[in-house]
Amino acid sequence: MNIDIQLLPNQPDLDSIFDKTVVVIDVLRATSVIVHAFSQGVKEVIPVRTVEEALSKFKEFPEGEVLLGGERDSRMIEGFHLGNSPKEYTYDKIRGKRLILKTTNGTRAFYLVSSARRVIVGSFLNISAVVEECLRNGSDILIFPAGDEGSFSLEDSVCGGMLIDLIIKRKERLCLTDSALAALLIYQRFEENLVGALHLSRHGKELIDLGATEDILFCGQTDIINVVPFFCNGIIKL
Ligand code: MLT
Repeated sequence: MNIDIQLLPNQPDLDSIFDKTVVVIDVLRATSVIVHAFSQGVKEVIPVRTVEEALSKFKEFPEGEVLLGGERDSRMIEGFHLGNSPKEYTYDKIRGKRLILKTTNGTRAFYLVSSARRVIVGSFLNISAVVEECLRNGSDILIFPAGDEGSFSLEDSVCGGMLIDLIIKRKERLCLTDSALAALLIYQRFEENLVGALHLSRHGKELIDLGATEDILFCGQTDIINVVPFFCNGIIKL
């Protein structure tokens, strides 16, 4: 099995991913929100890239069946039902509903890798479930951090490095690219203090300034949710 990580969120070469499992990671906060939403009974998540796309999709569904969630500049979008804090996505609000989610980096990332054989949603929250899915499936893996508006993001790379570390512990014959090795080394630096990496990151600091420190603590938890959502044809489902 080969493992690679794309440390910058550019469109990968289509030929290089068609037979791979791609793990999309946006620790702060899109993939953490998605994983948490499934643990609270959301029916499906429709990731979109713009507010306009979100509003137009919303009209396609009967009233009461669908919710609009996400952020613009990390803040709640006017007219939307929910923001981008995992704690808003509670059982009583989202059970059985469809969620149309618009975020800056995370929801866009799914479309950059949509030609892969399978695209799964990763975060610290469900990391062991993602490891199991990667090992069960056996395909080569590309880890795809959603990044920070086109730039490297520390928190997503640490999470990718943790995924690599856990897979290495379970499988002997692995081939890591230099990027994968670098992510592993970055993870090892923060292994004892994952939340420390989230606090240090640019977006982590931004969220602290916006008063969302609780979200950082929430998103830094490991293995509290045992689900692996899949993205296929524009929809994320279990
Ligand atoms: C994103 O997709 O860029 C993030 O989820 C932004 C945020 O933390 O609100």
